[in-house]
Amino acid sequence: MGHRLLTFTIMTIIVFCHSNVNFRNHSVITDEHTEAQRDFAGSALDLAPRRPPANTLLRIFSGIVCQRGRSRVCPPLPRLDGKRVLITGGTAGVGEFVTRGLLERGALVTTMSRGRSQGSARVPGITELTADLAQFSTVVDAVNQLDTAPVDILICNSGVLMSQNEFSSSGLEKTFAVNVAGHHLLYRLLIQRGLLAPDARLIITTGDIYRSAEHCSKDLPFDSPARTYARSKLGNLWQVSELSWHFPHLTAIAIHPGVVASGFAGAKGGLAGWLRGKLLIDEQAGAQAALIAATQQLPRGAYWHNVFGLVDLADDDPGQDEDQAGVLWEQLEWLIAPYLSSADTGSEQ
Ligand SMILES: NC(=O)c1ccc[n+]([C@@H]2O[C@H](COP(=O)([O-])OP(=O)(O)OC[C@H]3O[C@@H](n4cnc5c(N)ncnc54)[C@H](OP(=O)(O)O)[C@@H]3O)[C@@H](O)[C@H]2O)c1
Repeated sequence: MGHRLLTFTIMTIIVFCHSNVNFRNHSVITDEHTEAQRDFAGSALDLAPRRPPANTLLRIFSGIVCQRGRSRVCPPLPRLDGKRVLITGGTAGVGEFVTRGLLERGALVTTMSRGRSQGSARVPGITELTADLAQFSTVVDAVNQLDTAPVDILICNSGVLMSQNEFSSSGLEKTFAVNVAGHHLLYRLLIQRGLLAPDARLIITTGDIYRSAEHCSKDLPFDSPARTYARSKLGNLWQVSELSWHFPHLTAIAIHPGVVASGFAGAKGGLAGWLRGKLLIDEQAGAQAALIAATQQLPRGAYWHNVFGLVDLADDDPGQDEDQAGVLWEQLEWLIAPYLSSADTGSEQ
């Protein structure tokens, strides 16, 4: 009985996604209309702030269910000719398509990852650096390999959802180490060494699931994969608000790419992969949020969501907790201090 109900629910959602029902307008939109909507989005992206549903489950659910027809698409302009972009995880998953979109717009792209994840195909014309964000010394090594021309856009895209408790070489819970601390070290090294352009954009990939978390700290133990991941994504939002506070000349922006049928948190093959492909948006659609943040005039400290657009966060949103954000920033500064003080590879703590 339980199985039948589950199957029925899944099939209903699939049918729903395929028919592109637009809940908000209570109308059914055809493929032609969807294209028209995309074209419209492509020529004049709506940058007006919007308040998503206050209820967390409703917000996350409406963000997923409607996303196939309503994910915002990045316009081709403005171009990024000659702009230097550094992106973590830029050769696989959503990051691969962000990289491709940046190259199409004329950017010079350097990627940074462990080189383990497979993309759809090799991306030509990029510089690839190897680093494991959970192993701080490798991040220092990779930054040492950058040339002296400052980076115009840094995209902190790499992310993991750990299925079990693991620790980084610094003894940190690994989800926190990769998603939050490793990226903190990366942007702080770039800032310290004058490798970020004075008006650089710093784009950090969060996930709307952050809304289900209340805390993020280096001291919180792994409890469940989803809860631990959600906390790290809340930490990403706090990083953006703290960056805006500590470095007002930079434009820090948080993005939610959508819920994407990437290899993230699930297999790409088999029945599960097939279902994810039917239910979720593809990686190219997931790349649009980062491309929008890289090219459009979004305000400093903004949070861009693939469906809701520019999000107007309510005062009681956990992302607005300035006190906890400040505490996390201090913890991160303490964690990376040994690596900032040394020009060469620091030893792991
Ligand atoms: N997929 C979704 O539904 C979804 C929803 C909301 C937010 N997001 C966020 O979107 C971002 C991209 O996710 P995705 O769906 O593209 O996931 P993905 O397909 O699993 O790709 C993850 C990327 O992160 C890199 N990475 C993983 N561990 C790393 C490490 N220790 N050091 C350096 N790089 C590492 C991987 O490259 P290597 O393995 O080669 O290192 C890969 O390029 C993540 O931040 C994720 O949290 C995803």
